[in-house]
Amino acid sequence: MSELIHISVAWPYANGDLHVGHLAGALLPADIFARYNRLKGNRVLMVSGSDAHGTPITVEADKRGISPREFFEHYHRRSLEAQKKIGISHDLFTHTDTENHIRVAQDFFLLLLKADALYRKIQRQLYSETEKRFLPDRYVEGTCPYCGYTEARGDQCDNCGRLLDALDLIDPHSKIDGSKPIVHETEHFFLDLPKFSDALLEYIETHAVHWRPNVVNFTRNYIEGGLKGRAFTRDINWGVPVPLKGWEDKHIYVWFEAVMGYISASIEWAQLNGHPEAWKDWWYDPAAKIYCFIGKDNIPFHTIFWQAELMGVKRIYEDDESKQLNLPFNVPANEFMNIEGAQFSKSRNWAIWMPDILTRYDPDAIRYYLTAAMPEARDSEFSWSDFLNRNNNELVATWGNLANRVLSFAYKHWDGRVPEPGELRPEDQELLAKIEAGFDQVGKLFESVKLRAAMREAMRLAQAVNAYLDRAPWFSVIKQDKLSAATTVFTALRAIDSLKVLFSPFLPFSTEQLHMTLGYDRPLYGEQRIETVQDDDRAHDVLVYDSSKASGKWKPSELKAGQLLQKPKPLYKKLDESLVEEECALLGS
Ligand code: MF3
Ligand code: ZN
Repeated sequence: MSELIHISVAWPYANGDLHVGHLAGALLPADIFARYNRLKGNRVLMVSGSDAHGTPITVEADKRGISPREFFEHYHRRSLEAQKKIGISHDLFTHTDTENHIRVAQDFFLLLLKADALYRKIQRQLYSETEKRFLPDRYVEGTCPYCGYTEARGDQCDNCGRLLDALDLIDPHSKIDGSKPIVHETEHFFLDLPKFSDALLEYIETHAVHWRPNVVNFTRNYIEGGLKGRAFTRDINWGVPVPLKGWEDKHIYVWFEAVMGYISASIEWAQLNGHPEAWKDWWYDPAAKIYCFIGKDNIPFHTIFWQAELMGVKRIYEDDESKQLNLPFNVPANEFMNIEGAQFSKSRNWAIWMPDILTRYDPDAIRYYLTAAMPEARDSEFSWSDFLNRNNNELVATWGNLANRVLSFAYKHWDGRVPEPGELRPEDQELLAKIEAGFDQVGKLFESVKLRAAMREAMRLAQAVNAYLDRAPWFSVIKQDKLSAATTVFTALRAIDSLKVLFSPFLPFSTEQLHMTLGYDRPLYGEQRIETVQDDDRAHDVLVYDSSKASGKWKPSELKAGQLLQKPKPLYKKLDESLVEEECALLGS
């Protein structure tokens, strides 16, 4: 039965290029999961966009002396290009500075106000006398009161991960001019989290049974530690304006409104596709499942704050079944990916940037490694020597050579066609049965979002085909016993045709190539396009996914004898050892 699957992907700040942390943390697992579900015949809606708001944008724009819009649009555009190249198949990747998003977020705000889920309070905030402005969040740095890290930001400590209030910082100073701020009073809106404490705990206990233990534990501890109301407006001139008289100078802050982008982007997608109501299938049908793919620094925003916002709206419509928004079904947060033994750092350029590495490596080589080293259960490590080894010894040696060897042999000896086999022998049937069972095994791992294990299982099956070919007659008997060889090659081609499907969510580009080489004419997946679309009165660029030509199915091969093959070309490239030294030299420079 076809399911409704919503894939909500964390909105990366458009304040710099995408790096491998974004990919391994949220974008790639979301894409792999989306592709699998599409093959299964489920109705997938995967949306995200650039986060255009907040101090991460304004601080950097200020530094360059350009407007926040000019600044984020530059990186948004680069993000679209990088994601298209690496194949992140969002149905829509937009951004948060669209009029549609601003309208949805403001409506949401007003609903929550009506639901009594918000309150206003005079707050003490750091203020710069030299700049005559408040210093929210990333405008201040200081020492973390919990772990002593000296470069903690006003909103969060990058070392211990705790959310902070800028007032807690020891020895705070302005990030703009280093001056020491004073405390001023200012009024802000708060989300009344304590009101939702019981409901949130209950949700965790009853619905989170299949969540990852780290996500459940983090959330439970956070709630049991006592929830406090949290301010979500700021004294900055950028973002979603507070839709109330007298509040024109203040803006709604990122964590409150960006998550609403999962809905606003769903609405935008529906409008762009000419079915403006279609988004409701995922948000109102109680059978729909919403998965939030995020990095661990975003856990509280998705398991507590976003849930509370959704619960707040639900309270208004308590009596109306048809207006009950769905809460996330799962929040498969990933941990962090470190690089060569140290934490990612933008300021020290200890980072691997996507636009850069995409000029040197094929997208599937990058995807293969990022999946093999994905930080699903604990922090993991990007190491260039590991990248090299896995590419050469696994991707090329185990899978790529297998496909290439068999296809080239078939192409050469049977006039470019799939050979007509003799009767299948027990060992042939055994191999095909094993591969067929793989669809269930790998599928189960996908269902529980264990993507690393799913890919490992597919690779294990590729090894089984290699082992089969080591024993079965083909290469050496082609002259004396062509029928035997035909049976072996036919069996191996069917196995490879099936493995193509199992690998395709991870390796969409090379498996598409293989699919064509095997003689099919309709692609496995849809097509990605960057388009310029019209909002109310401004245009913006988006990435879309057009599935109209897609034909991939999650089922074992039914490859027919006689099918016309195309001339095979290697799927992957063996890489030279020298890359390790070269790439490591770029780090931190
Ligand atoms: N842009 C923010 C971040 O990267 C928030 C992303 S997730 C969102 O941390 F849903 F809140 F947008
Ligand atoms: Zn800390």
